[in-house]
Amino acid sequence: MNKLQKRDLQHVWHPCSQMKDYESFPPIPVKEARGPYIMTTDGRKVIDGISSWWCKSLGHSHPRIRRAVKAQIGKFEHVIMANTCNEILVELSERLCALMPGLDKVFYADNGSTAVEVAMKMSLQYHAQTGSPQRTKFLSLENGYHGETILTLAASDCELYSRPFAPLMTWIPKISDIPYVSGPDSKAWGHMSPSAWKEIELNLDKDAGSVSAIILEPVVQGAGGMRIYSPDFLGKLRKWTKKNNVHLIADEIMTGFGRTGKMLACEHAGIVPDFVCLSKGLTAGWGPMSAVLCTDNIYKAFYADYSKGRAFLHSNTYSGNAIAAAAALEAMKIYDDEGIVAKVAKQSYELRRRMEWVASETGALRNIRGVGYIVAAEICDPYSGKCFPAEERTGFKFYQNAVKYGALLRPLGDTIYFLPPLNTPAKVLDDLAEIAVKSLKTTLK
Ligand SMILES: Cc1ncc(COP(=O)(O)O)c(C=O)c1O
Repeated sequence: MNKLQKRDLQHVWHPCSQMKDYESFPPIPVKEARGPYIMTTDGRKVIDGISSWWCKSLGHSHPRIRRAVKAQIGKFEHVIMANTCNEILVELSERLCALMPGLDKVFYADNGSTAVEVAMKMSLQYHAQTGSPQRTKFLSLENGYHGETILTLAASDCELYSRPFAPLMTWIPKISDIPYVSGPDSKAWGHMSPSAWKEIELNLDKDAGSVSAIILEPVVQGAGGMRIYSPDFLGKLRKWTKKNNVHLIADEIMTGFGRTGKMLACEHAGIVPDFVCLSKGLTAGWGPMSAVLCTDNIYKAFYADYSKGRAFLHSNTYSGNAIAAAAALEAMKIYDDEGIVAKVAKQSYELRRRMEWVASETGALRNIRGVGYIVAAEICDPYSGKCFPAEERTGFKFYQNAVKYGALLRPLGDTIYFLPPLNTPAKVLDDLAEIAVKSLKTTLK
């Protein structure tokens, strides 16, 4: 352990970590980061194979975003967003509202969890103010993940993260029997079983009059295990919500901005939800910013004389932060100028092919699935084909070996995945796959 790592562990409490693990495997000492690489203080180059928790969609230190941020810092870095406006935020909002027809208003917060919570609060308040105060329930999907606040943990289905807080959590029922697929080539991608849908619909109908909104990650569920489900199912859920005056909140925090080969994953199903939550790729990982897009219809339910008490009085200090907004605006221009989304759609197969190669070289992966620039699989015993018991922490050992060989591939339990920046060169993807092979072989030796 070097000096920096020792000092770090004196005071820093790292997120989503058992701190004791750092005794044997200290934090990676970061000096710089460029493109798909993180450079360490001890002179190593580590490929960021998961885009730093899925946000560095254009890699590290993109020169155009760096310039845009510098230019903004020269003007102002942050001004209260209530009661002010500025050119950058207006242009960003115009571009965001052009992403989906009908989503014409945007509300800013400063992280993904809060964006989901904002959408839930808006939905609840909307119904209370439009004659349906009984609509106080939410539904979400099994294996979903929507953040770390108490309400978004309740909307999520990740017991590992929520267990200690269960006494505080409101109960949000989970829609189960989701038609999972391995990717766009699966039969159920465009056509889920009608009888399976019927069953789900019957259950939904029981709550039709009391639900405010359904919250879901469209098509890919990230933290719940990189699971991909049929866009046909998403389309059917959308029809059901429309028919029953229930909102649909699409949490595109991980899937948005090209990650699945469409600008927004909802496009796979050809739907427009009532709310879209964005973060991560919004600023290409440059700053804490999130946005909630919603329809004019929702906005109008809050628009009245002040004395009516209808305003949406949610406030975050850093709403609309100017540095993050400058990064977001430039990122959106880059997505356009460089045709990023079309490239991802075209090269998706190339990423998947590399995970398939890792599987064939090691025999230690099962259930490969992928869409866009996401591909995932479970580590398994090459001899029996079975998964390992969770307490063996095979994924964690894989992670440690991968770092030693030069890639940051932090798995979800024993689910490993590649989720690199959307502009990662082919050669770096080759290196990533080779490192994954070596790491698996060392882990399972
Ligand atoms: C789908 C989804 N929703 C919400 C969040 C929470 O975002 P944040 O970590 O910015 O609060 C995440 C983060 O990984 C996410 O993947």
